[in-house]
Amino acid sequence: MITSPVPPVVPAGHMATMDQPVLALPSGLELRPWRVEDADALVAAAQEPAIRQWNRLVVTSREEARKRIERMRERWENEQSATWAVAPPDGGQAVGLIGWGDIDLSGGSAEIMYWILPAGRGRGAMVEATKRVGQWAFDDLGLHRLRLCHAVANSASCRVAAKAGYSLEGTMRSALLHEDGWHDEHLHALVHGDI
Ligand SMILES: CC(C)(COP(=O)(O)OP(=O)(O)OC[C@H]1O[C@@H](n2cnc3c(N)ncnc32)[C@H](O)[C@@H]1OP(=O)(O)O)[C@@H](O)C(=O)NCCC(=O)NCCS
Repeated sequence: MITSPVPPVVPAGHMATMDQPVLALPSGLELRPWRVEDADALVAAAQEPAIRQWNRLVVTSREEARKRIERMRERWENEQSATWAVAPPDGGQAVGLIGWGDIDLSGGSAEIMYWILPAGRGRGAMVEATKRVGQWAFDDLGLHRLRLCHAVANSASCRVAAKAGYSLEGTMRSALLHEDGWHDEHLHALVHGDI
């Protein structure tokens, strides 16, 4: 068996033992686990042109949305991703999504994903949420490096990255195929200790 001389940044099994926390945002919104009752928000998101374009989200029915939401729990337990609903604190339906995908506990990294429905945009919610899940990823999960990638054409996402403190590290050419063709992507990252 080949073993590495470098220990894992976060031991396998650590995330699976953690409960997914509810995280409060300064504006009053909160980040909480998705519920099957949020299925309609996921269906609405998949119909919104900007989310469909930039997140490549396809959800065609409430049933499919419910299955996706159930899989979020499994993916937490399998230490693959950590996904929160952006929601009002009164128990109302989700208005957005944020989380970590491509989690690599051994290597200490993950990549952020997010969207918010049009009614919630332009109030700084996603900058707040990005900062909050970053704090969780460093302080609670123990990761070392967080990536934020977006199409160069997606200026709003670039502003979120900059305002949340993610340094622009470069442009990845023809990095992701969207409905209208290949797009260059900006690679931003935040390393533990940056802020
Ligand atoms: C990108 C997105 C998540 C930003 O969410 P948000 O809550 O509106 O963001 P914030 O309110 O925190 O604002 C972030 C900044 O983006 C700016 N912004 C918003 N829309 C913009 C646009 N179309 N072009 C340029 N900048 C824009 C805001 O003005 C703000 O910057 P400022 O404070 O310097 O003015 C949201 O627009 C969205 O869900 N878009 C569709 C899906 C998407 O792009 N997902 C990300 C894939 S990488």
